Amino acid sequence: MAEDAALFGGSVADNYREYLEPVIFCPWAELLVDFVGVDEGQTVLDVAAGTGVMSRAAAARSGPGSQVIASDVSAAMLAQVTKGFPSRDVSLQTLECSATALELPDTSVDVVFCQQGLPFIPDRPAAAREMFRVLRGDGKVGIAVWQSTPRLEPFIIYGDALRAHDVPEPFPGAYDSSILGMTTAEVESALDAAGFEDVEVRVERLELEWPSVLHAVHAASGTPYGPIIDALDSGIRESVLADVQRRMTGPSGDVTKHVMTSILARGRRP
Ligand SMILES: C[S@@+](CC[C@H](N)C(=O)[O-])C[C@H]1O[C@@H](n2cnc3c(N)ncnc32)[C@H](O)[C@@H]1O
Repeated sequence: MAEDAALFGGSVADNYREYLEPVIFCPWAELLVDFVGVDEGQTVLDVAAGTGVMSRAAAARSGPGSQVIASDVSAAMLAQVTKGFPSRDVSLQTLECSATALELPDTSVDVVFCQQGLPFIPDRPAAAREMFRVLRGDGKVGIAVWQSTPRLEPFIIYGDALRAHDVPEPFPGAYDSSILGMTTAEVESALDAAGFEDVEVRVERLELEWPSVLHAVHAASGTPYGPIIDALDSGIRESVLADVQRRMTGPSGDVTKHVMTSILARGRRP
């Protein structure tokens, strides 16, 4: 593991793009686009866009002449959105702003997506109201949020290994994966309260397909746990990463089965 540990590092945004996107976020983005639907030529807003997974999935559907706006509070994440954007015929705009203060005019977009962003936003009802505000009449919203659970793999495994090594939490509950999720009732009520109609919520499960054990371990570097692990003395870092590997693999040495459960919700602005 020593050589592997030495490879750890780099920016969260780069690592998110390399390790988390293909295995976790891209397959889920396709499901959300299918559930909500995007028509050709539409203007799509991706809220808490991160590295742009939803933006690219939506652009692939909206096609030439359409516009995709990727918004996020993190400039480092947004810097990834333009890399490998699907088509020059789709206009891409990035907006560095909070989901609770979208820098867009009222009724200016056709579809709003927010994949795995809502739990990070302290005022979720305000974010839902902003999504409603910027949508045109008959515009659609699509939300994806991990279903709240005490053990959301793979993220909980990274937290478990840090806790087992007595690495102090950067804030209370940081190693607890329930902070990454919501309940179906919470998602539904955020959309209802914002004024959305025809709100539908469903729960979907996907089994992750890790290309290798190393990929599964290094995926930690694309999460908020990455900089914590990176800052450890090399001996402890090696031990934490070896522990992550142990927790992620079965007796054969292969990665164990990880099934993620997400709430998908859609609604319409009347
Ligand atoms: C788990 S990532 C999801 C990114 C992307 N939607 C995806 O599916 O890969 C969560 C994102 O939420 C962003 N975020 C956190 N708080 C935010 C806020 N208040 N407003 C907008 N974005 C926020 C983070 O910067 C991060 O890029």
